Amino acid sequence: MSVFDRILDPANRADPYPLFDELRRTPVARQEDGTYVVSTYREIVELLHDPRVSSDRRNLRVPGESPDPAPSFIGLDPPEHDRLRALTMRHFGPPHSPRLIDGLRPAMLEVTTRLIDGLADRRQADLVDEVAYPLPVAMICRILGVPEADEPRFHAWADRIVDTLGPGEHDRAERERARQAVADQLRGYLGELVERRRAQPEDDLLSGLITQGGMEQREVVATAVLLLIAGHETTINLIANGMLTFLRDPALLDRLRADPGLIVPAVEELLRYEPPVQLISSRVALEDVEVAGVTIPAGSPIVLALAAGSRDPAHVSDPGTFDPCRPGNEHLGFGGGVHYCFGAPLARLEAQIVLTELIRRLRAPRLAADPPPYRPSPILRGPRHLFVDYDGVE
Ligand code: HEM
Repeated sequence: MSVFDRILDPANRADPYPLFDELRRTPVARQEDGTYVVSTYREIVELLHDPRVSSDRRNLRVPGESPDPAPSFIGLDPPEHDRLRALTMRHFGPPHSPRLIDGLRPAMLEVTTRLIDGLADRRQADLVDEVAYPLPVAMICRILGVPEADEPRFHAWADRIVDTLGPGEHDRAERERARQAVADQLRGYLGELVERRRAQPEDDLLSGLITQGGMEQREVVATAVLLLIAGHETTINLIANGMLTFLRDPALLDRLRADPGLIVPAVEELLRYEPPVQLISSRVALEDVEVAGVTIPAGSPIVLALAAGSRDPAHVSDPGTFDPCRPGNEHLGFGGGVHYCFGAPLARLEAQIVLTELIRRLRAPRLAADPPPYRPSPILRGPRHLFVDYDGVE
């Protein structure tokens, strides 16, 4: 079994980091199925910025694969990608300027307070199902204009879509078909909602995408699917990985309690140390690409191991230590290049607020199980549950 296959093995989900260290010994590792896995910081950054490396799976020649006929912009290359991203960005604010997202701060605090109040009458809670999941969902629904009451319907669809993502070519066609079937249901649901907003626009992102023009109906729907899934399945892991990391280190928890401002660099360090998106598995070489002395042949699938790159000792000193005060923390948690995460300011702020409130309000919290059970995905990695015992709520 290759090192990469062992990383994909659910048995290693709780602690894949020794394997990522091993993987980096071969910065560009060819797998048996022809996939090239890149794991060192410099090489990953190089490929994230290389226009010969495509995000459009339709460029891949895999027998039997039926790629998404109308991908959202995460699966498109410039110039189509740039056009759709820019049209969406108008309603979201640029990724490095969180002003628009900052306006959501009171709503985030209100939802967080309600969720933590809900834990007051007990001494044990699952911080995944009761806090880390509902907050990002409530926020993305509010931004898009999706009724929160419909959430149980698309919760299952979003989870099933994530289950079908992943590297590895052997069952790719089958997973692609399963994904399309579920994506059709989600597209059907959002398509109806788009029709309603077209007839009667409201003050939300979906209405904005429709009324500004420049996007076809199927493009609006694909963008809504992308944002809904990204808003559902990533920040949950940042919050859960955060509480897990803090609860494993009581001295760190005390420091954060004493100095709440420390949460800002601590969230940045979490994105490096326990990244919610561990791998980018969607890239394809359009031409022969040489990297670290290896030629990746045109048409090959490429995996970028972000979790390995952010712990590369050639780039970060003492990478296996969680240091909230790490100076000049450069990590790959949000990717890089033209596809740099669109939701970064939203995710950062949600995590900062909810982690601050959990640290402040839970009395004597401790892990009920360590390691916790993990969700199956090796790409979007995080605990399935995080059971915590505590002595009440402030
Ligand atoms: C792209 C990570 C939260 C929307 C990405 C990428 C990464 C990432 C690594 C790059 C993917 C690639 O290059 O193929 C994360 C993490 C999050 C998070 C770690 C939470 C902690 C969010 C949220 C949203 C979002 C909350 C939306 C509301 C997007 C979109 C893209 C993206 C739309 C595609 C950008 C493009 O193709 O130009 N994210 N994300 N993300 N993310 Fe996030």
